Amino acid sequence: MDAMLEVPIQNQKWIDSVWGKITAKMDYVAENTGEKIPYTTVNGRYDDKFAQDPAWWTNGFWPGILWLMYMGTHNDKYKEIAEKAEIRLDSVLYGLDGSFEGLHHDVGFMWLLSSVANYKITGNPQSRIRGLIAANHLASRFNIKGGFITAWNGKNCEGWSIIDTMMNIPLLYWASKETGYSRFRDIAQAHADKTAENVIRADGSAVHIIEYDLETGEVVKTYGGQGYGTGSSWSRGQSWAIYGFALSFLHTKNPLYLETAKKAAHYFASCIQDSYIPAVDFRSPAEPLYIDTTAGAIAASGMIEISRHVPDFEKKIYLDTAMKILKALEKEQCNWTDKTDSILQNGSESYSGGIHKSIIYGDFFFIESILKLKKAGICLW
Ligand code: GLY
Repeated sequence: MDAMLEVPIQNQKWIDSVWGKITAKMDYVAENTGEKIPYTTVNGRYDDKFAQDPAWWTNGFWPGILWLMYMGTHNDKYKEIAEKAEIRLDSVLYGLDGSFEGLHHDVGFMWLLSSVANYKITGNPQSRIRGLIAANHLASRFNIKGGFITAWNGKNCEGWSIIDTMMNIPLLYWASKETGYSRFRDIAQAHADKTAENVIRADGSAVHIIEYDLETGEVVKTYGGQGYGTGSSWSRGQSWAIYGFALSFLHTKNPLYLETAKKAAHYFASCIQDSYIPAVDFRSPAEPLYIDTTAGAIAASGMIEISRHVPDFEKKIYLDTAMKILKALEKEQCNWTDKTDSILQNGSESYSGGIHKSIIYGDFFFIESILKLKKAGICLW
């Protein structure tokens, strides 16, 4: 155990027991899923999202889960299935299946967790190339006059930037380290600086979508996006802010990013005190209560990341909150049976649709959190 991440003995027993449940379940789920690249479950079994939409933003999370399992178990079967998924993604990346123009800022999620993970773990040179192609794509989305990375495609949203992008820019930090060229990192930092200034409100809450003027970079307006509405507080966006700024600090050591991650984390913690399971939006009506377990898992992993970078006296604040979230998720929201392929239940795509379903990134961040607590130093970002 890393001295930087001290987990009390009683928590260590719990972590070991949950890791045991994860390995038992993933052992057969990985084999049953075979070459599918899932997003959610249908009648308890993983779907094949790649077959429906090769450029879908979550298609890197399945190989990401498999690489986590490989790092945690050293069982070659996870590596083999992850490599097959990575090769399947080639038809998008190399423009062979007509879906290339569907790619957007989420190439970070897609290729950091598949190809860059493979390259970091095995040194596969072709995986490095895939990661660099994806990084060039992400860098090309930087709007020079506006000073931000454009999130999605389409003329009507060329000026839109979203908080989620903070999780994609570690691909640019990696590309700079890998190539020695500062331009990737400069783009990432320009985007992070602008996001810290305009997207994180004074109370630490995060805007989901912000529109900038394409000529001047001035803020035009904000949108509620996947949250309840304009001015609201979408919990998964909040968790992207926590983890995304913590990762920008990891890669740059710029104290502004750590302070921003902490501020976002304090706000998140203040909104979940009742149950430690986040609502989809922290500023939505009390009824109906929609929850999003994925936001909890992402925030927990982000808080564990913050705990690695703060002085000893502060670590406990972030680790304790992360543990409370993970324990609540495990007790109330995890399905360890073979009735469903997914572990974490009741994720929500947005306030207006896709409520209370299993979503692949919920499992990714839940598994990642437990593995980070068990084996300090794990980081695919
Ligand atoms: N990146 C989109 C989402 O978090 O749903």
